[in-house]
Amino acid sequence: MKTSLCDLLSIKYPIISGGMIWCSGWELASAVSNEGGLGLIGAGSMSPDILREHIKKTKIATQSSNEKNVFGVNLPLMNKDIENNIQVVIEEKVPVVFTSAGNPSIYTPKLKDAGIKVVHVISNEKFAIKAQEACVDAIVAEGFEAGGHNGKEETTTLVLVKQIVDKVDIPVIAAGGIASGEQIAATFCLGAKGVQIGTLFAISKESSAHINFKKAVLASKEGYTKLFFRKLSPTRLLNVVAKDISQTFFSQVEEAENRGATKEELLNLIGVGRSKKGIFEGDLQNGELEIGQAASMLNEIQSVKQIFVELKAGFDRAIQKIS
Ligand SMILES: Cc1cc2nc3c(=O)[nH]c(=O)nc-3n(C[C@H](O)[C@H](O)[C@H](O)COP(=O)(O)O)c2cc1C
Repeated sequence: MKTSLCDLLSIKYPIISGGMIWCSGWELASAVSNEGGLGLIGAGSMSPDILREHIKKTKIATQSSNEKNVFGVNLPLMNKDIENNIQVVIEEKVPVVFTSAGNPSIYTPKLKDAGIKVVHVISNEKFAIKAQEACVDAIVAEGFEAGGHNGKEETTTLVLVKQIVDKVDIPVIAAGGIASGEQIAATFCLGAKGVQIGTLFAISKESSAHINFKKAVLASKEGYTKLFFRKLSPTRLLNVVAKDISQTFFSQVEEAENRGATKEELLNLIGVGRSKKGIFEGDLQNGELEIGQAASMLNEIQSVKQIFVELKAGFDRAIQKIS
């Protein structure tokens, strides 16, 4: 499974756990890095102090007397604490930063001057070219299937990865809908040099998401996720179908969008702290539950170690089938 991305990021397997608010704390990030992938701390919901704490814990958990595994931090660029969080990753000498949701030209030079490898997440061709012009080291091409925030073009991973690989000269990391080794192999056939996986790791044992959230994801079936908020920032949400839960946030958003609610109405409906309520506190009725289409492929809560065993075996099976 080794690719040029492994050399670039000093990792054994080109498998990255996406930075995910309320899921990717130090436990998930260090578990993924210790399996030979790249674990990312999701700083989207973290203040500078909390981020520093998670970095310090990840450093301890990924170091032993004879080994030091690389980890990274995801910094959504629209975050209100972005200036201070950039300072924290520089001071703590974090080796890799994945930026998302914003303009990569603003902070990439500063991060690179500090010796940090920078990877930027994009969802269309225009942003991929801008990221390359900003001199990032690699790009994550994240398709429509993905959990969390999504591109306005709604381009699927299969289309997006091929399109971006043909347009840029830097390594492309595929993301969106990948939850098996066979799917990793498929993206490599398109020219991707690595994968960023969210949904599968979001319900792992080491994810800091609430158990109610993980169980709701496991109970979901094909078609249970839907892209909302196209007028704001398109976001894929999970529908919870359970006898004892009605009038969920999902159903309220669906009703509002069906009647053509304005941006202001939608912003009022979202309010503040919705994703924390849903993902971290496990409030399935009032919380915002972000997850990708791959949710319907998942059958159990696994440890990161088990996930790696299965991803590697699936990848080998796929390569055999192709050859
Ligand atoms: C619960 C959840 C939270 C996420 N939060 C973030 C985030 O804070 N920053 C970010 O860049 N991407 C975020 N993402 C996207 C992931 O990093 C990753 O790119 C995406 O989940 C990949 O698609 P997949 O879910 O189909 O594997 C999130 C995804 C999920 C499922």
